[in-house]
Amino acid sequence: MSILEAKAQIIQLPKFLDERGNLSVLESGKHIPFRIKRSYWIYDVPGGCLRGSHAFRTQHEFIIALSGSFDAVIHDGVEERRYSLSRSYYGLYLPPMHWRTLDNFSTNSLALVVSSAEFTEEDYIRDFDEFIREVNK
Ligand code: TYD
Repeated sequence: MSILEAKAQIIQLPKFLDERGNLSVLESGKHIPFRIKRSYWIYDVPGGCLRGSHAFRTQHEFIIALSGSFDAVIHDGVEERRYSLSRSYYGLYLPPMHWRTLDNFSTNSLALVVSSAEFTEEDYIRDFDEFIREVNK
């Protein structure tokens, strides 16, 4: 997949089934269309809480439910779509300029996010109306 063709989508990861326990893997450039600069994870989310509700101007992300489940609600500037993440062998690829909210977290869920950029607050758009203005420019 080239960066130019990239759109929000579920990407399946390799799964090595084994009687001793299963293994999955994620490699930059091979399974996701960007180089990983940063990883973070979201955990201990109280029932009913939301995370996210912002967009990124330039960074790409890949979001995996390493444990439990949650939903990613994605708005591309035109329409909204809900993706259910509930397995550690697939994830949601998100190019820049997509509004995203994570909700519906199950008890003990663990969300891993890998990103193409270091943390910088300037890359965030935290106001939905501002996002709609910028994405439709
Ligand atoms: P934020 O991205 O707003 O969380 P979410 O979108 O999941 O609701 O980040 C929450 C706080 O954590 C914010 O104060 C910035 C800080 N933070 C970092 O310092 N580095 C990081 O890489 C991330 C993702 C967040």
